[in-house]
Amino acid sequence: MTIETAHAAAPGTPLAVGPGEPLFALHDVGYKYSGRQIALDGVNLAIWPGERVVLLGANGSGKSTLLKLLDGIVGPTSGSIRALGLDVAAVAAGEDGFHFHREVGLVFQDPDIQLFSATVLDDVAFGPLQLGLERDEVGRRCADALAEMGIAHLADRAPFELSGGEKKRAAIASVLSLRPQVVLLDEPTASLDPRTKWVLVDLIQRLAAAGRTLIVATHELDIVPLIADRVVVLSEQGRVVADGTPAAVLADRDLLVSANLIHEHLHEHGVVAHSHPHDAWDGHHEAAGSVL
Ligand SMILES: Nc1ncnc2c1ncn2[C@@H]1O[C@H](COP(=O)(O)OP(=O)(O)OP(=O)(O)O)[C@@H](O)[C@H]1O
Ligand SMILES: [Mg+2]
Repeated sequence: MTIETAHAAAPGTPLAVGPGEPLFALHDVGYKYSGRQIALDGVNLAIWPGERVVLLGANGSGKSTLLKLLDGIVGPTSGSIRALGLDVAAVAAGEDGFHFHREVGLVFQDPDIQLFSATVLDDVAFGPLQLGLERDEVGRRCADALAEMGIAHLADRAPFELSGGEKKRAAIASVLSLRPQVVLLDEPTASLDPRTKWVLVDLIQRLAAAGRTLIVATHELDIVPLIADRVVVLSEQGRVVADGTPAAVLADRDLLVSANLIHEHLHEHGVVAHSHPHDAWDGHHEAAGSVL
């Protein structure tokens, strides 16, 4: 698959990968916050177009840090990352940021970081407006993203007035409206009620079916087989300790215990197959267009 963009030539050029090239190539990547301990250590990963990857790891294992690196917000403090044919260190330094961020969108773990406008609608419109899209197209994208997350009725509310789960849905809508090729989701189901959680699982499946590349950090083992083809496990020292199929990783009890993903005295986790109705919002799905 080739990711194509309207990249108007210049600095780092590519923004596309050819057949046989990974979308993200991480070589011996380390990240150390200033004055703090190492968050990521010796990470080697290749992520391919169209993959659905889940990042698993205990608190502090570096999942959010890794997503920030993949989003070009920060560059690695050691090693290198190429993303969509660009050097992430250069993107983090400001080069090609506009083009990069129309292709790669990150939903932050903390929605308060993502929501800064006077209203939810303004936040959802911010990205498309930055892209310079026509007013009608911006309106369509906002309506679709708000409907997809079931929050059309919150469009005129101030983000700070929303509940935690509503903020999360608004933050996701603000990335969906950009329609990026790569969607990075940091704990997308945290603080969502069960119905909204399964709506999000359904959304992730549809984005993947539409060819998007998805990389999702989560703690919720029950959704992993439904949203991933591949699971990368980080140790508490920020190292990759497993990289395999959901079935293989979730069946490895010793791995899950050592990575602090399950507690051995709690309960069994198997590969849980759920079949929930996904036409949620109590049958009032606001489906307008499509965010795909
Ligand atoms: N802004 C920061 N400044 C200094 N250290 C940080 C900062 N953000 C994270 N860290 C540290 O880096 C390490 C990795 O943090 P990170 O947020 O990437 O973990 P995580 O796997 O996302 O954890 P969680 O499951 O709690 O979200 C932790 O030790 C954390 O304390
Ligand atoms: Mg995190």
